[in-house]
Amino acid sequence: MRKTTVVTICVALACLFFAGGIYAKVGDVIKFAGDCPRTKGEMTFSHKKHSEDYAKQYSDLFANGCGECHHDAKGQPLKDLKADSKVDTCISCHKQCGEAPKGKDAPKLDKKQKLAYIAEAYHQNCQGCHKDFNKKYAPKKAPVTCNDCHPKKS
Ligand code: HEC
Ligand code: HEC
Ligand code: HEC
Ligand code: HEC
Repeated sequence: MRKTTVVTICVALACLFFAGGIYAKVGDVIKFAGDCPRTKGEMTFSHKKHSEDYAKQYSDLFANGCGECHHDAKGQPLKDLKADSKVDTCISCHKQCGEAPKGKDAPKLDKKQKLAYIAEAYHQNCQGCHKDFNKKYAPKKAPVTCNDCHPKKS
């Protein structure tokens, strides 16, 4: 038997490397859990690139480290997370499926009520930082349009 087995699995555009039996607790690429009915195709998220590479390269945008995205039940940033920490899923707190209702018949929601919808929570988190990035680091671009992030439903 070889001492080191390197298996490379390519999923869509993303490649995950498992080398020599060292498995990271949090996947390098996260597939969003399918707890809700979908209108868009399934997307993946480069967790490792964000939490390591981008966090280092653009440290001004990641002042709270892991806590730029992970926070506690009071919304306070979890700065000292570890890869093997137990992390609550976003939807365990932002519990409603999909986006907040839109249109003229939709109820008027305040900020907190809107955030109860999982897609609003994600959109604010992901796009908020990407917009800041695009302003500061132009002409570099992080995705902010629907199709940049969401693949067509197959
Ligand atoms: C840019 C946003 C972002 C940053 C920064 C980030 N994470 Fe995450 N992390 C996520 C998202 C999104 C999920 C998926 C949550 C879900 O499924 O509800 C996640 C999930 C996790 C999980 C659970 C994985 C699983 O499969 O159960 C762990 C553990 C984790 N992150 C640790 C960290 C640590 C440690 C850091 C800092 C070194 C970090 N994260 C930085 C967005 C981020
Ligand atoms: C343990 C519960 C909990 C978890 C898990 C959680 N949140 Fe939150 N989140 C909150 C609370 C509480 C607030 C504050 C709400 C308010 O201000 O009314 C909040 C606020 C937010 C905000 C608004 C921040 C701001 O500055 O106004 C965003 C965006 C957000 N969460 C996204 C996420 C994402 C993405 C995840 C998963 C990576 C996540 N949340 C996981 C409870 C949680
Ligand atoms: C705190 C800042 C920050 C947050 C939060 C953030 N991103 Fe990003 N993201 C970046 C930066 C910076 C880049 C691009 C860097 C570059 O072009 O060099 C990027 C690039 C990307 C890209 C294109 C390149 C790649 O890595 O695939 C995708 C897709 C992406 N982000 C998805 C997401 C999603 C989905 C979320 C929310 C779960 C998210 N991002 C949250 C900073 C952030
Ligand atoms: C920065 C990346 C990003 C951009 C840009 C973005 N989204 Fe999302 N969106 C997400 C993430 C992350 C989720 C939650 C995870 C999931 O369900 O795939 C989500 C969830 C959703 C959902 C609920 C899930 C579903 O399939 O029905 C809808 C609807 C949605 N987005 C619509 C949009 C629309 C419309 C736009 C453009 C106006 C947009 N998104 C732009 C990242 C993005």
